[in-house]
Amino acid sequence: MSRKETLGKDIKSHEITDESLYLKRRDFMKAMGLGLGILPQFSKSNTDLQSGSHILTHNHQINNEAPGWVKQKISAAHPGLYSTIETPTPYEYVSTYNNFYEFGSGKDDPVANAQNLRIDPWSVEIAGDAEITGTFTLEDVVAPHDLEERIYRLRCVEAWSMVVPWIGFPLKKLLSRFKPLSTAKYVRFETLYDPSQMPGQRSLFKSIDYPYVEGLRIDEATNDLVILAVGLYGKYLPGQNGAPLRLIVPWKYGFKSIKSIVKIEFTSKRPKTTWEVSNPKEYGFYANVNPNVDHPRWSQATERRLPGGLFRSSQIDTKMFNGYAEQVAYLYKGMDLKRFF
Ligand code: MTE
Repeated sequence: MSRKETLGKDIKSHEITDESLYLKRRDFMKAMGLGLGILPQFSKSNTDLQSGSHILTHNHQINNEAPGWVKQKISAAHPGLYSTIETPTPYEYVSTYNNFYEFGSGKDDPVANAQNLRIDPWSVEIAGDAEITGTFTLEDVVAPHDLEERIYRLRCVEAWSMVVPWIGFPLKKLLSRFKPLSTAKYVRFETLYDPSQMPGQRSLFKSIDYPYVEGLRIDEATNDLVILAVGLYGKYLPGQNGAPLRLIVPWKYGFKSIKSIVKIEFTSKRPKTTWEVSNPKEYGFYANVNPNVDHPRWSQATERRLPGGLFRSSQIDTKMFNGYAEQVAYLYKGMDLKRFF
């Protein structure tokens, strides 16, 4: 089926209103033959969690070099678990207000500098404490997985937030394919290092070391909420958002959600992660969203929800674990979260 047939014809970005979101969601459910009610298999006890879709709300032309097989998989994505019913931040903000230091430290640098990121071919090395390791193509990594949409809150450590309809698949499904050994206690992720494509890596005034590295404890990494994303708003991920493959860990500050991943490694020791190395007093390994533990230079009790408006305050209270406590609080039972921030 062509993309046009799947996506519907005439949805323009300026139509992103609550009503159009509702109507497109309804179309999506209909197209999937799912009826209009909330589906029992998708509903959760928490009223914030529901099946929903913003897959059909955009018709932007982005990242033409995305391989056809990914585009096809994205158009076949289905609504997944754990999506919030909060209004998604419009695509225009999600794709133009970015943190991706490899492309510059200003919020509008990534969109300006990431357009020519070469994402095809792309390979991902799987290394460390697992039965199966090696270098795999993006297709090896992604193609066996059904893609789903997860509409998640994204809370940056800088105290702004968005709501983003990602398209991806659970990280735990990928990890299990490589059969991690019992010595694998952590998972370490690495971003592409290619100064010829990434001006931030060539800069004389680098504020962080490259390649960008992130990590999770293995029980965090295999929590249901963690996904590897290949798309957003029903489209292929733009370079500035971390094409072709990025991590999404919705209960942690955004810097844990590492972009443009080229290496995933199972380790027995806790990896040294980029922001922790750059300033260990300000950024911890755990980086769980926590309104009770302030950043040394600002409060984390509230956040600015983007886009905000002239007449409407966009300041909202920050929730423990970014509102995902029901799914993740068990991971930190008995831990002093002020110490392990
Ligand atoms: N990944 C890499 N490789 N480099 C980065 O600079 N910035 C992080 C994270 N992942 C970053 C990264 C930060 S601070 C945030 S808030 C999120 O990406 C932002 O994701 P977005 O631009 O898609 O909203």
